[in-house]
Amino acid sequence: MTTVAPGGRDGTDRPGVRQAERADLLEIHRIEQASFPQPWPFSALESYLGEEGFLVAEAGTEDGVPIVAGYVIADTVPNHGTPLGHIKDLAVREEYRREGVATALLESALEAVTATGAGSVKLEVRADNDGARRLYRQFGFQHRKTIPNYYSNGEDAQVMVRLL
Ligand SMILES: CC(C)(COP(=O)(O)OP(=O)(O)OC[C@H]1O[C@@H](n2cnc3c(N)ncnc32)[C@H](O)[C@@H]1OP(=O)(O)O)[C@@H](O)C(=O)NCCC(=O)NCCS
Repeated sequence: MTTVAPGGRDGTDRPGVRQAERADLLEIHRIEQASFPQPWPFSALESYLGEEGFLVAEAGTEDGVPIVAGYVIADTVPNHGTPLGHIKDLAVREEYRREGVATALLESALEAVTATGAGSVKLEVRADNDGARRLYRQFGFQHRKTIPNYYSNGEDAQVMVRLL
């Protein structure tokens, strides 16, 4: 029998955001493959396990297995004394989009990055990804520069930056 528990581990009907665990990786990899023309390989996702900014939104469980609605990977790199945050990957399973899942993930990722003492956070987004760019603008990210041919299919990236 399949039982689907509503909501995440916080008992509400909103997906609960928590740190990613090994048991989430297969599902994360599936969402990654469904979301991007050049998805990260499994090993790249795996290498971020344990990172404070590797978070999943859990939309309940099915047969005791967590349902991953989306995930974000953020980390921090040294940058002339003040760490620089980097949102490296963000995707939401198609059937959970436009329900605030990415918003919840980004809020928590920015908290994790802020806790490291970072002064700003950057990300790269495909120039034609209007939905994601709108989401990031709502979070105060601003277009800083364009990197031509950033992606392996020749697409340009927009670098967006937000002060923390
Ligand atoms: C981009 C993405 C992560 C957004 O996830 P989401 O959970 O649907 O986002 P949210 O529900 O939190 O959206 C918040 C706001 O962002 C904007 N937004 C998000 N997706 C949008 C879209 N497809 N078109 C226009 N605006 C969009 C809207 O303003 C939205 O608010 P609204 O729904 O009240 O209008 C998701 O569409 C996705 O996984 N896309 C494929 C992977 C990808 O492009 N990742 C980003 C890489 S940089």
